[in-house]
Amino acid sequence: MSEIKNKKSFEYLVEHIDDLLAPCLAQDWPNLSIERAEGSYVYGKDGKRYLDFLAGFGACNVGHNHPRVIEAAKSQMSKMVHTAIGVTNYEPILRLADELGQVTPGDTNVFFFGNSGSESVDGAIKLARYSTQRSGIIAFLGGFHGRSLGATSVTSSKAKYRTGHSPFMPDIYFAQFPYPFRSAISDDLEKCGQLAIDDLNRLFEYVIEPQEVAALLVEPIQGEGGYIIPPKNWLVALREICDKYGILLIFDEVQTGFGRTGEWFASQAFNVNPDIITLAKGIANGFPLGATAARAEIMQKWGAVSHGTTCGGSPISCAAGLAVIETIQEENLLANAQKQGAYMLEKLRELKTKTPIIGDVRGLGLMIAVEFVKPNTDKEPNSEVVQRILRLALEKGLLLYPCGHWTQTIRLIPALTVTREQIEEGLDIFSEAVLEANTQ
Ligand SMILES: Cc1ncc(COP(=O)(O)O)c(C=O)c1O
Repeated sequence: MSEIKNKKSFEYLVEHIDDLLAPCLAQDWPNLSIERAEGSYVYGKDGKRYLDFLAGFGACNVGHNHPRVIEAAKSQMSKMVHTAIGVTNYEPILRLADELGQVTPGDTNVFFFGNSGSESVDGAIKLARYSTQRSGIIAFLGGFHGRSLGATSVTSSKAKYRTGHSPFMPDIYFAQFPYPFRSAISDDLEKCGQLAIDDLNRLFEYVIEPQEVAALLVEPIQGEGGYIIPPKNWLVALREICDKYGILLIFDEVQTGFGRTGEWFASQAFNVNPDIITLAKGIANGFPLGATAARAEIMQKWGAVSHGTTCGGSPISCAAGLAVIETIQEENLLANAQKQGAYMLEKLRELKTKTPIIGDVRGLGLMIAVEFVKPNTDKEPNSEVVQRILRLALEKGLLLYPCGHWTQTIRLIPALTVTREQIEEGLDIFSEAVLEANTQ
């Protein structure tokens, strides 16, 4: 029998990380070794404190290790870690469904709880197909929905996420997502939205008739694709098209949810209600949890045993999820996201006037991004300068991460608990890094 006799030091393990962890994980960024995390900061093994404007890929919306969330999880853990949902029952999952259903958009208040965003998307696709008895799914170019095979099939933010993994799920189609900054008519938002609607209608005319389409699957604001905020008229038109043809509208709010945009969900910021919504990330502040939520009349069609899970909706994650809802409410985090976000946008727009490498500053609530371009070009994406800024910012104590099809955009997504002082600290470092990177 083999036994573990050789316990290695952490430093040794880090040095041999390539022998231990699959190389498919992001490699475009130094793996910063972290000892602990609290609120808006992570503390490096190097003894340095880093202001975290990535918030665990947008999962830790109420700040790292929020005491209320930790306490709720600990208290649940001491009672029960896991049991078999469907066979047994437990209070946190039912209570979470009840309370979450009071803040999700429209009537999306019946839940299937899984473990992650990708699973939530897979669940949404399965539910849409099952309940409509149609197979076509239309996703939108530049969208990101996760890494399971189902979610990869509807992802198109970068072709390299798909390369080598085909064949994908059949009957998936892609339509245009309006990208105002890169549109030829960027100053006319309505028109930009209309062009994307025309593109969808062309798909219906040339490729797949609407009667064969189960669902349109869309991020109300594209995340990995570059923090792209579509014109409202486009999302409103998607809702109308779905109503006209009996197509289900799925909003993937894995990244936009739980207060990130200054509303509970981006759906509410645009005042457009989906039929199905996918949730994860901020739902339990980093505990593994995801959810596919739908209107009751859709969910009730999903026959017994047609979907399932072992650890999805874990009692601990659900208890953490309940604490997240309480925290967002009691600490007025939606209002804080709106206030701090508006301030950040104002300051970043001032920075834009000082350098030609910033092409665009955009955001809603605390879902903010800066897109970089090469000076004296027609908005040529500038991923080189983004890499320099990321490294300089990290050296100065600010953790950031890029997004965008060409990795030309930097997202700034602090925890929703962020204070004005922390915003100032982050903006000072970011501005220094941007101005310095431009001279290198
Ligand atoms: C919009 C969106 N959907 C789905 C996912 C996948 O979530 P997970 O990584 O939890 O599977 C992500 C992850 O970044 C996302 O941003």
